[in-house]
Amino acid sequence: MQTYNNVFIFDHPLIRHKIAILRDEKTCTKEFRELIEEITILMTYECLREGVPTVTKTVKTPLEECQQTVVLDNSIAIVPILRAGLGMVSGIQVVFPSARVGHIGMYRDEETLEPKEYYCKLPEGIEEKLVLLVDPMLATGGSACDAIDLLKKRGCKNIKFMAIIGAPEGISKVAEAHPDVNVYVSTLDRQLDENGYILPGLGDAGDRLFGTK
Ligand code: PRP
Ligand code: URA
Repeated sequence: MQTYNNVFIFDHPLIRHKIAILRDEKTCTKEFRELIEEITILMTYECLREGVPTVTKTVKTPLEECQQTVVLDNSIAIVPILRAGLGMVSGIQVVFPSARVGHIGMYRDEETLEPKEYYCKLPEGIEEKLVLLVDPMLATGGSACDAIDLLKKRGCKNIKFMAIIGAPEGISKVAEAHPDVNVYVSTLDRQLDENGYILPGLGDAGDRLFGTK
């Protein structure tokens, strides 16, 4: 895969370890959900290294006052792409409990693999916030691209996209369509199969999270 300035692929032994368990077909729904949350916490720490709205405030320690940089109140929104993105929300909330949460509902047409939007509810004032768009699977990139288009139409200017597993096809599509959006992927997989599933992947993330199959 070509390299892109706006793509960050984590290569961390701790994340690799958790992804190995996540992929395993024997991993149950409970453990799958917990792993998605844990991996998201680790990713959030790295994703928010830059581009977070901050202010300086005065803090009084027992010894003296000092100037400290803190994250601006009410400046972060989490937007999961339904369904599977829901699994990543709690991981970011561990770090930012007060982040507002919006939802974009999309499913892939099984024949064409084109995303279909069926729901959208975003927090008021989202255009002024750092938006963390999340979906564990970045396959063809169609869902992520459409969700970013939608957020931009609503005026969002500061968007980061986080996926746990990415295929080269999807990463390239999002990186090229949205060079202003940083794309964070914890693991780069090999390719898509003829049904648009990521290989080796982990199967259908929504079904494994919610136990629907
Ligand atoms: C999955 C996944 C992404 C999308 C990725 O959702 O959670 O949203 O596919 O594929 P793409 O990159 O080719 O667009 P799915 O459509 O299966 O819906 P679900 O989460 O409701 O199961
Ligand atoms: N969506 C999934 O849940 N898994 C894939 O491998 C591809 C798309």
